[in-house]
Amino acid sequence: MASCNIRRYEDSDYETVRDIFTAGMSEAHSANVVYMLKKTPCLLGLFFVVCILFLSTSSFLLAVLGVLLLVVFLRHRVFDACDQCILSSLNSDMKYIRQSYLESHNSCFWVAESDGCIVGIVGCCPASETKEHLDLRRMSVLKTYRGRGIGKVLCSTVIDFGRQHGYKALVLDTSVVRVAAQKLYTSIGFKKYKETSFEIPLYSMVNLVLNLPIYHYRYDIPTVPGEGRTCVMQKNIFLHLRM
Ligand SMILES: CC(C)(COP(=O)(O)OP(=O)(O)OC[C@H]1O[C@@H](n2cnc3c(N)ncnc32)[C@H](O)[C@@H]1OP(=O)(O)O)[C@@H](O)C(=O)NCCC(=O)NCCS
Repeated sequence: MASCNIRRYEDSDYETVRDIFTAGMSEAHSANVVYMLKKTPCLLGLFFVVCILFLSTSSFLLAVLGVLLLVVFLRHRVFDACDQCILSSLNSDMKYIRQSYLESHNSCFWVAESDGCIVGIVGCCPASETKEHLDLRRMSVLKTYRGRGIGKVLCSTVIDFGRQHGYKALVLDTSVVRVAAQKLYTSIGFKKYKETSFEIPLYSMVNLVLNLPIYHYRYDIPTVPGEGRTCVMQKNIFLHLRM
């Protein structure tokens, strides 16, 4: 039996927290490429390129090689664009974690600890759309500690914080390829209320080809703890995990 402790972020957590954030975010790179390649316009485009190359060189091998090169190039551009997004977060709120999340009573950042190590992170701050909503951000759990309820407990920590601070709802956004995250949020009771497209500044070609849907979720915070569908395990400070 091991235990998981949820506590507020401390400055000594800085490097580990940034590493867990980077690892969690980087996981979507390959899924983004697969998503792009499965889309009909992309498949049609690649087929069109094969045809053009075949007609102009009369070599099937050259045509296939040409398309493979194009796929490698697109993969590189998507990875590069995603890296830029992570870098931009690492250079904004994730660079100044204390200032961004702990210096105002309306925001917070927590870490989940197990076996004496940090294994998960989550933060929250007032939403940009309305001050009545709290934005859940930077949720990530180390791969080897997933599926043990840590994500749910981190969510419930933010829900409790939102309730204590008088917020009406929790909001967040996640991408279409983050299936585990979507399952986590819907299992808690979040509802999808809006869909937009992923826009990476200065990467217009990637935006066009990828056109990645972003799902916006909302959870109306029940005024009484335990109401609603907050199916969270024993929260409080200690969560016991089955090993
Ligand atoms: C999303 C994430 C935080 C979930 O953390 P976790 O600790 O594994 O989540 P939990 O163990 O609390 O799982 C909660 C629920 O989510 C769902 N879920 C979690 N992982 C899943 C997976 N791989 N596949 C399907 N469903 C999954 C299940 O419904 C689960 O509930 P159940 O066990 O009662 O069936 C984790 O996968 C992660 O860090 N991913 C990478 C970073 C990321 O995507 N962050 C979210 C950005 S918005």
